[in-house]
Amino acid sequence: MPAPVLVLGATGILRPAVVRLVEDGRTVVGVARSAPELAELAAVLGPRLIPAAADYLDTQGLLRTLTAIVASFSAAVVYAPVADDETLAVLRLLTDGPVVDLLVSEYAQPAPGADPAAFCLSELPARQAAPWRSLLLGWTSEGRWHTPEEISAAAVEVLATGQDTLLGVVRPWSTRPAS
Ligand SMILES: NC(=O)c1ccc[n+]([C@@H]2O[C@H](COP(=O)([O-])OP(=O)(O)OC[C@H]3O[C@@H](n4cnc5c(N)ncnc54)[C@H](OP(=O)(O)O)[C@@H]3O)[C@@H](O)[C@H]2O)c1
Repeated sequence: MPAPVLVLGATGILRPAVVRLVEDGRTVVGVARSAPELAELAAVLGPRLIPAAADYLDTQGLLRTLTAIVASFSAAVVYAPVADDETLAVLRLLTDGPVVDLLVSEYAQPAPGADPAAFCLSELPARQAAPWRSLLLGWTSEGRWHTPEEISAAAVEVLATGQDTLLGVVRPWSTRPAS
């Protein structure tokens, strides 16, 4: 049996991705801080969802929680926009296969003086070495944020294709929706 897939941020925008992976027969270790929300998801999905309540801002605590469950992961989907390099490196070390790293739109903010219309995904540095992949979360061309279903579908797609991807648009920056 393949090692489980790690989903960091399992109860929010990546919840539909967790459901999809479990329905596809994968075992998922789902991380969030809220143990009750993870328990609610596990009650819906059954034993293929292994809850792992942890805070990714506490690198050593996260490492202890994950390694108490399993030695390594076959793949990972990570939504940890403010994680530091130490946490990201730990996740990279624990994962034998591809990692999809969801980047919020702030990563594409134009630098002062830069052409406000220009953007090239390949100029966005990955936060860890390959096969670490980036899914940059933009907004829709109609000017709204994507739904959890849209974001999760894109994350599962990047996991399958291994291609860095921009979901939606990030230019013109002035069309970015208000938070
Ligand atoms: N384009 C963009 O830039 C962009 C990006 C993302 C989202 N959005 C929009 O914003 C909406 C809400 O997104 P959101 O960012 O608030 O995400 P969210 O849907 O609340 O998901 C965040 C997930 O990460 C977990 N989490 C948060 N902090 C954590 C920590 N320190 N350690 C471990 N797990 C942690 C949360 O669970 P716990 O709280 O239990 O820890 C939850 O499972 C989305 O539906 C989308 O429309 C836009």
